[in-house]
Amino acid sequence: METTLKNLEKEALSAIEKSPTLEDLQSKEVEYLGRKGKLTLILKGLKDLSPEEKKVVGQLSNTIKNHLEEKFTQARQKLESKELEKALSSEFFDTTIPGRSPDIGHIHPLSQVQEEVERIFSQMGFAIMDGPEVESEYYNFEGLNIPADHPARDMQDTFFLQDKSDPKHGKMVLRTHTSPVQVRTMEKYGAPLRVIVPGRVFRYEATDASHDTTFNQVEGMLIDKDISLSHLKGILAEFLTRLFGKPVKVRFRPGYFPFVEPGLEVDFSCLLCAGNGCRVCKHSGWVEFMGAGMIHENVLKAGGIDPKKYQGWAFGFGLTRLVMMRYGVDDIRHLLGGDLRFIQQF
Ligand code: FA5
Repeated sequence: METTLKNLEKEALSAIEKSPTLEDLQSKEVEYLGRKGKLTLILKGLKDLSPEEKKVVGQLSNTIKNHLEEKFTQARQKLESKELEKALSSEFFDTTIPGRSPDIGHIHPLSQVQEEVERIFSQMGFAIMDGPEVESEYYNFEGLNIPADHPARDMQDTFFLQDKSDPKHGKMVLRTHTSPVQVRTMEKYGAPLRVIVPGRVFRYEATDASHDTTFNQVEGMLIDKDISLSHLKGILAEFLTRLFGKPVKVRFRPGYFPFVEPGLEVDFSCLLCAGNGCRVCKHSGWVEFMGAGMIHENVLKAGGIDPKKYQGWAFGFGLTRLVMMRYGVDDIRHLLGGDLRFIQQF
């Protein structure tokens, strides 16, 4: 058996040496080491030997197998470089042409900024919440202190679904803002609360450079004991300063939203002109940012929270417009338009 194995090794080594092409070499490899190859067949016969013989012959055949594998690999590399040299000398091949890098895609600018917003608020102790995009009229309006016949409903043009109406929850709508998650979160977790809710919202509006029918908002809400608007101002200034990497100031103006009292419009100091006035801030030094205010007691009650024990504030800003400002995008419709020439710039 040992002699047979050694003879087989010699035979295989000479076959390797005599193989002039890669094809020949491959067929020899199959002939000796393949599944039905000569060496494999010998190895299969090991089971009929005595234990002592098995040990000796087993070891020897493994050594031969490893040796032959190594020789086949060396011979293959030699033949490959020979064939490459031959090809290079017979046809022109420009080895200086840069390779083609694979197209692996990247995160959409809206998601990039959303992730950053989530990171900053998480660092300040806020949890990240989610809510349904197909929402009931109750959570989108009534729960937020906007009754069915209230003119404030006209502030947000709404897509209604053609479902049957539910006695408590009304019809189903595509949510017009992320605010419905306020009452949902209060119902689920109670007070105290510190959350942000990034999400997609929908409005039945004519589109222009700064309005789309689908856009992203971020809702924020903090409920605890002895909470005031000064906490909101501090948190927002800190958030914007971390987001833009330079000091940003925040100012409040009176505003109206039925679910907050008092209600505010929030502006931040223009980053382009450092508050001196430019085209972007319409020479005011301030950029309009979002709606906010102290959560109305009817909303706290709808969420099952006692307004005598707890207060809080909420805000909602347009993430899409923040992305536009950050990257200097001049038309909102580019962002979800699906044109790769636009998206590939980020
Ligand atoms: C709201 O949606 C309120 N839910 C915000 C709020 C939350 C107020 C909590 C008080 C307390 P408003 O309709 O103003 O508010 O929208 C908020 C932001 O969404 C706007 O400042 C704007 O940046 C953005 N936005 C509104 N409509 C569009 C639109 N059609 N396209 C793109 N962005 C829009």
